[in-house]
Amino acid sequence: MSHIHISLEHVNYSYDTSHSVLKDITFTAREHDAIGLIGANGAGKSTLLKLLVGLNLNYEGSIRIEDIPVEKNTLPVIREKTGYVFQDSDSQLFLSTVKEDVAFAPRNYGLSEDEVNRRVEHALANIHIEHLRDRQIYKLSGGEKKMVSIATILSMIPDIILMDEPSIALDPKNRRRLIHILNQFEHLKIIASHDLDMILDTCSRVILLSNGEIIRDGNTVDILSDKELLEAHGLELPLCMQGFSQISH
Ligand SMILES: Nc1ncnc2c1ncn2[C@@H]1O[C@H](COP(=O)(O)OP(=O)(O)OP(=O)(O)O)[C@@H](O)[C@H]1O
Ligand SMILES: [Mg+2]
Repeated sequence: MSHIHISLEHVNYSYDTSHSVLKDITFTAREHDAIGLIGANGAGKSTLLKLLVGLNLNYEGSIRIEDIPVEKNTLPVIREKTGYVFQDSDSQLFLSTVKEDVAFAPRNYGLSEDEVNRRVEHALANIHIEHLRDRQIYKLSGGEKKMVSIATILSMIPDIILMDEPSIALDPKNRRRLIHILNQFEHLKIIASHDLDMILDTCSRVILLSNGEIIRDGNTVDILSDKELLEAHGLELPLCMQGFSQISH
């Protein structure tokens, strides 16, 4: 049996006292799990991923990454293990050029400049954006920024990948490349997305959130083919599961 890499027990979280955003969240994720996190706008997907990387710390309950509790003094080690792609690329990229941003994490680990350069070139090539290497971040398109954000975590060579809407803004070819990269990554990944077709192509397990609660946690095909369940929680079947009659309406 593979190791438990993420464990949440009875996690509750609210940004302010008036509104509870995550309610009694309990689940574990193992080393090779590929988990799609789905739910309507405002369901709590981004909030949950942020809790896992310690961006929101004043939660109730227990969150452990590789058995390390997520708290202020463990953040450096948690973030070294965990590659996190923000929903909003402008929150992710903060240096002036693509190369600097993709080099940031490995450089921070104290690796040699040769190794940093090797990691940068490998990450850029992996996602086919070598041509963006010397471009300034603020001049990139939305999709280009998303690809660079993904490269910034590939250069970390993380144990765990957490991605928040990674396919948003990507054209069909880049979306395919993303799916290929996600399927090549053998360790634990959790992907929050409204792109249910991508979830179907990359994840074997799905967690459905609604109003901050886990409604279902189970097999991807079982959940993503359950029209009634999805519609009851503000979602629709993946496009590939919708009949032509529905598409033509
Ligand atoms: N910084 C914040 N301060 C206060 N409330 C917030 C903050 N960020 C999110 N919220 C609220 O928390 C709830 C969950 O938001 P969250 O961003 O986690 O949803 P989501 O499932 O990721 O939605 P989406 O599909 O739109 O990305 C929403 O009601 C949102 O308004
Ligand atoms: Mg979100």
